[in-house]
Amino acid sequence: MPTRDIIRIAAVSDVHYGKQSQGTLQPLFNQIAEHADILVLPGDLTDYGLAEEVRVLARDLSAAVKIPIIAVLGNHDFESDQSDEITRILTEAGVHVLDGDSVEVLGVGFAGVKGFAGGFGRGTLGPWGERAIKQFVQESVNEALKLESALARLKTPHRIAILHYSPIQGTVEGEPVEIFPWLGSSRLEEPLTRYQVSAVVHGHAHKGSPEGRTTTGIPVYNVSLPLLRARYPDQPAFRIIEVPREIAAAGTNEDGRAHGRRVGDRVPPASRVADAPSV
Ligand SMILES: [Fe+2]
Ligand SMILES: [Fe+2]
Repeated sequence: MPTRDIIRIAAVSDVHYGKQSQGTLQPLFNQIAEHADILVLPGDLTDYGLAEEVRVLARDLSAAVKIPIIAVLGNHDFESDQSDEITRILTEAGVHVLDGDSVEVLGVGFAGVKGFAGGFGRGTLGPWGERAIKQFVQESVNEALKLESALARLKTPHRIAILHYSPIQGTVEGEPVEIFPWLGSSRLEEPLTRYQVSAVVHGHAHKGSPEGRTTTGIPVYNVSLPLLRARYPDQPAFRIIEVPREIAAAGTNEDGRAHGRRVGDRVPPASRVADAPSV
C-alpha cells in the first residue's frame, strides 16, 4: 500500500502485442511499476485479437508489474472473435478487465467500457434510414449506456473513466479528418458529465492529441502509446494521473456523486523506452 498523499495512476493504451512481442515493453512496464500505484490499459492490448498474443502480454505484465492493473479491450482485441478468451487470460493474470463494469482500487473508482464509433457533435451519426445504420448507432448507444451504469455503481469521491474510443473530438485531432467518425462518439460524453468524472483516459487514435476537455471541462487524455512516443520523445511513454489521497478518502454529496474537483496529471520526467511495438 502506498503511504504518499497521492495515488498515481499510470495509463498507456495501444500496446498492440503480437506473438513476437515478448520482452519488448518490459522496460516500460518496469518504469511504470516504479512510478505508479495503479496501471490502466485502455485497449488494443493485442494486434490481431489472438489469445496467443495476450498470453505474451500477460507474461510480461506479470513479470514486471506488481501493482493493480485495470484494462478495457479495444477493437483489435475483437478481431479474431477471441475476446472472451482474452478476458479470461487477463483475469487469471490478475488484471481487472472492465466491460460496462466498475472497480474500486486504493479508494479510487474506475468505470470501463470499450466505447464505439459514430462521430462527434453535430456530425454524430443518427439512427435514421437503413436498418444497418440503426444497428450501428445502437451499438454506440449501448456502449454509452454501459458506461453510465458502470459509473452509477461507483460511490467513490473520484471516478476515472477508461475507454478505448474517444468521447470528444479534441483528442482525435491530428488524425485525418475523414476518419474522425471512426475514432469515437460524442454519445460517450453525456455519462461523463452526469457523474462528474474526474478524468478520462482513452486510446485508439494513434495520431490524435494527448489532451482535451469535455464541454463541461473534464480532462480527457489520449494515452495511445504511439502518440505519447511521438509527442514526448524524451519521456517515458505513459501518462501519470494523480489523485490526492485526502480527496479519495473524503465523502460524497447526498446523491453519491463526487464534489467535482479535478485531479492533476503529469508525464514523469524519466528516460523514454526505445523499443517500438507493432502498431
Ligand atoms: Fe490501436
Ligand atoms: Fe483501436
